[in-house]
Amino acid sequence: MTSVYHLDLDAAGIGGARCAFVPGDPGRVPAIGDALDSEARELAWKREYRSRLGHLDGHPVLVTSTGIGGPSASIAIDELAQLGVRTFLRVGTTGGIGERVSVGDVVITTGAMRLDGASTQYAPIEYPAVAHHLVVRALVAAATELEIPHHVGVTASTDTFYPGQERLDSFSGRVLRRFQGQTDELRSLNVLNYEMESAAILTMCAALGLRGGCVTGVVAERTQHERVVPEGLAEGQRNAIRVAVAAMRRLVSDP
Ligand code: URA
Repeated sequence: MTSVYHLDLDAAGIGGARCAFVPGDPGRVPAIGDALDSEARELAWKREYRSRLGHLDGHPVLVTSTGIGGPSASIAIDELAQLGVRTFLRVGTTGGIGERVSVGDVVITTGAMRLDGASTQYAPIEYPAVAHHLVVRALVAAATELEIPHHVGVTASTDTFYPGQERLDSFSGRVLRRFQGQTDELRSLNVLNYEMESAAILTMCAALGLRGGCVTGVVAERTQHERVVPEGLAEGQRNAIRVAVAAMRRLVSDP
């Protein structure tokens, strides 16, 4: 059986999985796999794409990392869809923009501002990057049940971590004029957070007739500073994974 080129997976190897967690970081794949079942096994690891296969309530579920940003995420979603996956749940980290979005909270994205390039090669920019309503419903129910502080709404999804998210702690220490004041403006528009993959993932899923969703743990508070807080990183990741796994449990039985 032929493998998809980048992920190094084939249809038989993924055991009929129709649902996948798609974290950005390959290092997060074991933690999600362990939260599924103790027998989750590694299938492949090529470049930024690391995959494990586990089970939730007897249903096969994949965990495949996307790497950072829309271009690499688009390859992961496309190749997993070629293999038969139909539900995609991004589990990531994020910088909070909203006043009340604190380190350790999770953000459930209903729609993303497409401040990227990759998504425009799957659908024109007028097309909305919206999460699937059933995935949003499952995420909100999971976060509520687990009593994890959560925010539900619009995410700004950028192509760069530094200028695109108006960070001045970069090599140049400056951003182009068009990014100056962007974070305050987004806050005034009720945008909750910054991250780098939801524009591509949600646009692709909506346009291709797949189910897509995104939950991210807050690791930086842009109301305070630009830094990613190390304790926040652990807590944000842990909470996002807990919500994602509980949400997926609600989705696997109707994949
Ligand atoms: N990921 C991002 O894209 N931005 C942040 O501030 C933190 C994580």
